Formats: sequence, structure tokens, C-alpha cells
Amino acid sequence: MVDTSGIKLDAAFTQIQQDIDGVFDELLPVPNDTRRRLVEAMRHATMGGGKRVRPLLLVATAEMLGVARDPALRAACAVEAIHVYSLIHDDLPCMDDDDLRRGKLTVHKAFDEATAVLAGDSLHALAFEILTDERSFTDPFTRAELARTLASASGMNGMAGGQVMDMAADSATYDLPTITRLQQLKTGALLAASVEMGAILGKLQPEGRAPLRSYARDVGLAFQIADDLLDVEGDEETVGKAVGKDSEQGKQTFVTLMGVEGARNQSRALMDQAAGHLAQYGSDAALLIALAKFIVERDR
Ligand code: IPE
Ligand code: IPE
Ligand code: MG
Ligand code: MG
Ligand code: MG
Repeated sequence: MVDTSGIKLDAAFTQIQQDIDGVFDELLPVPNDTRRRLVEAMRHATMGGGKRVRPLLLVATAEMLGVARDPALRAACAVEAIHVYSLIHDDLPCMDDDDLRRGKLTVHKAFDEATAVLAGDSLHALAFEILTDERSFTDPFTRAELARTLASASGMNGMAGGQVMDMAADSATYDLPTITRLQQLKTGALLAASVEMGAILGKLQPEGRAPLRSYARDVGLAFQIADDLLDVEGDEETVGKAVGKDSEQGKQTFVTLMGVEGARNQSRALMDQAAGHLAQYGSDAALLIALAKFIVERDR
């Protein structure tokens, strides 16, 4: 396996967190009118928190393919905007009803429910505003492909579709293939889109994207298994959100189906498999491989 000991993952995370905060700060100036509350809610949700795993996946893929950092950061910010919108809505009383997110009050608690819905809506729109801006990406084909990739990962065939399956997971008896499908949509689709968008910026033709797509599929599944494990074993302070929610809500997850040890072994096997898919990139893939390891072993 590729040696990842030279990769400074902590520094890469610190840098991407700073960079993404910077782009949101620039994109979200607070207006001096009645929209102030909405934009403050968007800033509360997008800035000063979050691991920024999707942005780092996108930027690391792009960097491996020789793409300049600025356009990669713009695309990464679009993915993060969709992710944050999904978190704001996921925390609403009509969904998971949570008070804590990224160690802060959830948006509907810090502001109010209507503002939370609208902040989510506005972040959804902002993502596509970024991707279709010719100042971000000069090539119109690239803009269209980026927008289409993120759109299809977000809607009924991606994140939102997975969320609706997840809402039903407490009543329906889901087996392992169904849970796998649910997680691939709910979480995997957006992680896969992050890698795919890096490949689009790198001008890889679709037929050349198979190894990266396989990597992303395995990492996406491993990511959600880790999230399910954190819900059982994590510490609220460290994780920055409520734990024990899945069992409280009677949700079927990888952990209920495979047990804690089974789920952990499965996520590690997926990590090894993910790394194997990138063999052709040699040491250029070291950051992506280090990131896969982090995703499996993380405590937050
Ligand atoms: C949490 O995502 C929600 C899931 C999709 C499981 P993250 O674990 O990436 O949350 P942040 O962005 O770091 O807060
Ligand atoms: C939410 O999954 C995934 C999204 C699409 C937002 P969870 O409900 O498991 O995420 P957490 O645990 O609240 O972060
Ligand atoms: Mg949920
Ligand atoms: Mg939730
Ligand atoms: Mg969870």
C-alpha cells in the first residue's frame, strides 16, 4: 500500500477549513435590511465548524489531477453548501429534531424554524449560483457538468432520496442490501459527487473515472458506518452533536444489522478496498488514501 506517513492530514484539514470559511465569508455579506436574519443564519450554519470532509475530498482529487486550487475551492464550497443545507433540514423538528450541530445550537434553535427552512433553501440555491458562475469556471461545459453532477447527487436519486428512506427506516424492516442502498443515497452520493467534481475539473473523461468512482463508493459507505458507530460509541462533546439518536428513534443502521465489531471491520475492509482502487496513481493518491483512513478511524 502507498506510504501515507508523509501526509500532514491535520494541516490539510486546517487549511481547507480556513479556505472554506473564507469563501463563505466572501459569498455571504450581511445585508442591511430585513434579510439580515436569513444571512446571519446561513453564516451560523456554514462558518466556524464542520470537518469539511467533502471539500477536502474534492480539492485532493483535483490537486492529484493537477487542477489549480481556486476553482477547486469554489466547487468544494458548492458541495459544502448542499451538505450544510441538508444538515439544517435534517435537524428540524419534523426530521431528527436536534438542538446541537457542530458544537453549536442548530439553526432552528439559534434562530427559528422558518428561518432554518429558508436558510437551507438559500444554501441550496447558492451552490448552483457558484457552479454556474463564469468567474469560477471559464469553460461552459465544465460549469454544466459540475452543476448536473451536484444536482443529481442532491435530489431524489441522491441525498433527499436517501433521507426519505432513512425516515422510514424506523418502521420498515430494512435488510443489509436496503440499508446499503439507503446510505449510498443519503451520504454516499454527495461524497461521490465531491470526487467526481474533482475529476471533472481535472478534465478526466468519464471512461477514465472508474478507479476514482470505486474509491468514492467505498469511502462513502465507510463514512456512514463511522457515523453510525459514533452515534453508538461517540462522545457528544467531541462529536459536536447528540449521540444515541439512532437507537432512540429505533433506526436500522449498519450497527444494528452487523453489531459494533462487525460494522467496524466492514468499514476497515472498505478503506483497504478504497485505497486499492487508486493503485494506478501511486504516491500521488497518498492524500486521498490518508483521508479514507481518517474517515474510518475518526472520533468526530
Ligand atoms: C454528518 O456529516 C451527516 C452525515 C451525512 C452523516 P459530517 O460528519 O461530514 O458533518 P460535518 O460537516 O463534519 O459537521
Ligand atoms: C443525515 O444523516 C444525512 C444528511 C443527508 C443530512 P444523520 O441524521 O445520520 O446525520 P447526523 O447524525 O444528524 O449528522
Ligand atoms: Mg437524519
Ligand atoms: Mg440527524
Ligand atoms: Mg447520524
